[in-house]
Amino acid sequence: MRPLFITFEGLDGSGKSTHLRAVAAHFDAADVPHIVTKEPGGAPLSDAIRSVFLDPRWGDMDGIVELLMVFASRRQHLLEVIEPALASGHHVLCDRFTDSTIAYQGFGSGVALDVIDAVDELATSRRRPDITVLFDLLPEEARSRGQSAKRRAADPAAGGADRLDLQSLEFYDRVRRGFLQLADDEPGRIRTVYSGGPRERTTRELERALADILPAR
Ligand code: TMP
Repeated sequence: MRPLFITFEGLDGSGKSTHLRAVAAHFDAADVPHIVTKEPGGAPLSDAIRSVFLDPRWGDMDGIVELLMVFASRRQHLLEVIEPALASGHHVLCDRFTDSTIAYQGFGSGVALDVIDAVDELATSRRRPDITVLFDLLPEEARSRGQSAKRRAADPAAGGADRLDLQSLEFYDRVRRGFLQLADDEPGRIRTVYSGGPRERTTRELERALADILPAR
């Protein structure tokens, strides 16, 4: 199989990062070369942008400022990590990519989609993953999972809820609708898995969704 660029998308608290690690464990067990990475971040400069992007001390950030930050992070990540990994025969498992920008900055914050498209063209030549798994659930369920608390525990220096955690449920509802719209528009790339129920059920759905690429156990 040629190296694949595979992304995991969904609301904060959708469980995507946990399921990404499970897919990586499948690859590890079968000695399939791969890397695990995330956005915003994934390269030293991109990680620095991430910490500014998420820091609530900067207060309200205009959607365009957010857009330019995530694409600056993304271009560096693509050039320094993602494309070299693919070129050297590794699958890339990436937590979030441009679909998140369309959903969060576009549908969530109201940045015009053609503006996002223009910056995407400049920064990545509209690079898209080969496969995207979208973990879908209601914003209420996502929030009740306390994802941000987990992130705070992992990084106490971050000090409190991050900037995006402070958004309203209406914002997350718009973001969710954005993801679902993208999945409708690109059914060949985006595979949607329901992640609102028990984790085992989502795991089974995910294994079915990725049956063509997961190594046999
Ligand atoms: P994470 O918690 O999944 O690492 O994501 C960090 C936050 O950044 C999350 O709330 C989604 C947000 N985000 C955007 O708003 N736009 C983007 O392009 C990306 C990649 C993430």
